[in-house]
Amino acid sequence: MLRSLRQLTRASTGSTKSILLREFIQEALYSPVFGYFNREDVPVGALPEPLVFSELAGEAEYKRALHASYENLQESWLTPVEVFQPYYGRALAKYIQQQASSHDSAIHINELGGGTGTLARNMLDYFHEEDRGLYERLTYTSIEISPKLAALQRQRVGEQHAASFRTTTTDACKPEAWGHPSQEPCFILMMEVLDNLPHDRVGLFGSADEWCQTEVEMSEEGQPVRQYMAPITDRAIGQCMQLPGWQATIDQQPWMHRIMNPFVRPDSFVYLPTQCRMLLDLICHARPNHHLIIGDFDELPDVQIPGKNAPLVASKEGGITYDHKSVLVRPGSADIFFPTDFPLLAHMHSHAVHQHLPQSEVRGHHLKAGEFMRQYANSAAAATRNGYNPLLQDYTNFSIYLGGTVEHPRGD
Ligand SMILES: C[S@@+](CC[C@H](N)C(=O)[O-])C[C@H]1O[C@@H](n2cnc3c(N)ncnc32)[C@H](O)[C@@H]1O
Repeated sequence: MLRSLRQLTRASTGSTKSILLREFIQEALYSPVFGYFNREDVPVGALPEPLVFSELAGEAEYKRALHASYENLQESWLTPVEVFQPYYGRALAKYIQQQASSHDSAIHINELGGGTGTLARNMLDYFHEEDRGLYERLTYTSIEISPKLAALQRQRVGEQHAASFRTTTTDACKPEAWGHPSQEPCFILMMEVLDNLPHDRVGLFGSADEWCQTEVEMSEEGQPVRQYMAPITDRAIGQCMQLPGWQATIDQQPWMHRIMNPFVRPDSFVYLPTQCRMLLDLICHARPNHHLIIGDFDELPDVQIPGKNAPLVASKEGGITYDHKSVLVRPGSADIFFPTDFPLLAHMHSHAVHQHLPQSEVRGHHLKAGEFMRQYANSAAAATRNGYNPLLQDYTNFSIYLGGTVEHPRGD
């Protein structure tokens, strides 16, 4: 039945072409011509001045200050790195400083998707002020897909930290972004990058409840016509489906119901981080001796689209946010961002290391960003006058994964 439905779909569409859902998302977000991250008004906003938390009375005034910043930015979004500058960057720098304290060799930091460069600037300022020895043996390489944001990073970070900072404008998911493989230890930072990496969707289909991948039918004009289920042929999808915990909890449907509704079961849809899985393969190959530091939303509110780990599809006009009910929006017109399934991310990292680096294993864990900040940030500086501390108490749906490769002890 599957095959005949697929043939029917193809036959009825004439000159249209079909692509995987992640290929559609890749185009929609990153096409050099119309991609969302290549718009004239870049969607990643920068605060003109850091918020001075100690001058704010408490939570309500903090929320008002944030709201006012958003109104000024109109079409852009602010990330925790921007809102809590310089404390976020300084806390991450302190974590790296502690991890690197046991050796005095060169330190390499690769930041993927550095946005406006705020994190790089805050971290490099920290090393410069607090640990000049480490600063002098440090290289900080940013890999940024958006030419406009890369140019902004060069201007905001490169001028001040010329000896240690450089930006390459390319897709971090492509091998050429990494150059020759290097055995040297390196820290790889991704703050709010996984949420924009293209995902695929699988779901149960047909009376036999077979797992299928989602494909998008595109018109000749490059617009999405519809999405449909097709047999799984994609390797990255297959890899994600081998991981423990990827699946949704699906209600058992009575057999009569199945016979009457033998096609797609929306309750079974799962969005899989296939591009992230491929990126981890690449990192294992290019930088086997790596330590990942990944921050992202572990949950998103008010998602309108059914499925486990379904994305928010949101556009902004005149400072007002619109949430869409489908991923199939006009390419480039909306942000498409996913929650990160942190337990799955940890499994994926271990799985990739296990496959590519048989001599190594991963030591990793994830924790809420507030907890991380409590351990590494100068959080008192981010407190408002009545004691409310947004660095610790806001963005409660943001987590951080910390995971590095270590060699198996000899004899294992
Ligand atoms: C939501 S912004 C986060 C910016 C910054 N990390 C922060 O936390 O403020 C996502 C960033 O990742 C970049 N990006 C997304 N996919 C990328 C890829 N495949 N390679 C390199 N950069 C990417 C975007 O251009 C953008 O700068």
